[in-house]
Amino acid sequence: MPAADAPAADAPSAHAPRAQALADSQELVRRIGEEIDAAGGWIGFDRYMQRALYEPGIGYYSGPNRVFGDEGDFVTAPEMSPLFGRCIAVQCAQWLGADDEIVEFGAGSGALAVQVLSALRDARALPRSYAIVELSASLRERQRRAIAAAGDELLERVRWLDALPERIEGVVLANEVLDAMPVRVFRWCKGDVFERGVARAGSAALDWSERPADGPLAERVRDRLREAWREHAGDAGGADFASAAHDYVSEIGEQAEAWVATVGARLARGAMLLVDYGFPRHEFYHPQRDTGTLRCHFRHRAHDDPFLWPGLQDITAHVDFSGVAQAASRAGLDALGFASQARFLLDCGLLDACAAMSRDDLREWTRQTHAVQRLLSESEMGELFKAIAFGRSVPDDAIGFRTRDRRARL
Ligand SMILES: C[S@@+](CC[C@H](N)C(=O)[O-])C[C@H]1O[C@@H](n2cnc3c(N)ncnc32)[C@H](O)[C@@H]1O
Repeated sequence: MPAADAPAADAPSAHAPRAQALADSQELVRRIGEEIDAAGGWIGFDRYMQRALYEPGIGYYSGPNRVFGDEGDFVTAPEMSPLFGRCIAVQCAQWLGADDEIVEFGAGSGALAVQVLSALRDARALPRSYAIVELSASLRERQRRAIAAAGDELLERVRWLDALPERIEGVVLANEVLDAMPVRVFRWCKGDVFERGVARAGSAALDWSERPADGPLAERVRDRLREAWREHAGDAGGADFASAAHDYVSEIGEQAEAWVATVGARLARGAMLLVDYGFPRHEFYHPQRDTGTLRCHFRHRAHDDPFLWPGLQDITAHVDFSGVAQAASRAGLDALGFASQARFLLDCGLLDACAAMSRDDLREWTRQTHAVQRLLSESEMGELFKAIAFGRSVPDDAIGFRTRDRRARL
């Protein structure tokens, strides 16, 4: 997603939504306003983000928005190139046993499912089944059409689940799902911690509002910042930072961590592969990253106002991969690897797959090689995006992490 980032100055006013979309957004603001009133004038940002993204029928992911692709608000890796999914399939094939299944969470347009299943079909290694856990009814339909177009033999393996499976044996996949989970936002100042939430701003608008953080949140924030800033003690602005008069705003991805712990506990045997943008903790809470990682996307413009057209724009935060790794460890999983997306894809054979592409259609070949360059480039998705994997009862020799595993940095 950040590959499409543009400066905040490039705000999306010139691309205003249509009247019906604006009416839906106003209805969402009205409903959230009611919840704020009922709660005494304030709700946490995580609650706001939950409703803005997932309110039935009018939330960003549950409404009729196009969301993914050139006509939507952002482009994800499987939308850019089918070779992304081919590489993921190489890693899946190593982990899959004869009677195993793949469980994909938040499957978007269905592009990754099509790519992984097609590659596994070509390798004669199709899983017993491919389950998709999808919150949005309209996306389910879109996924079904995409998979059907790739072949009935693929579609007949796919099933859609409304809830988490009780027990998983096989591979769990989630591409850019953790970044779409609601976060709590805090401001730290001279050792005091405030939670940034949402209040009414007049009768039909919402805005930031903060209050002292509750005890558990304040303690968690202090623990995380202390741990992260210790790493920077020798850097300029590092050692004295904790006592300096400096506002520091950031997020805690509690829901993403809880999700990893829950799904991890249900992974009876197999591996979990997560691809997303973010950092290990000491980089996530770097002293200089003092305005956090919360970003919004509307029609390929990135900006930082989460209250603009609620329900019509994406809201996202980067992932603290150390927090994710700790959650997986609590669920009894072993860390199998942590690498930049570029290293992971290269280890899974992206360049060979690229070289094997047909050049009969030169336009398409040029488009694909450009997409591969974006997936790998450090200044685009190659370094900001990471692949992380955990497993239970699987060998510690994952193909995608063979050459540049950074587990020790978590
Ligand atoms: C940025 S999109 C990525 C879609 C797709 N994976 C891709 O790469 O194109 C995030 C997706 O995660 C889904 N999502 C968020 N939380 C989820 C959860 N707890 N379970 C399943 N899907 C979830 C959203 O509904 C949305 O479809």
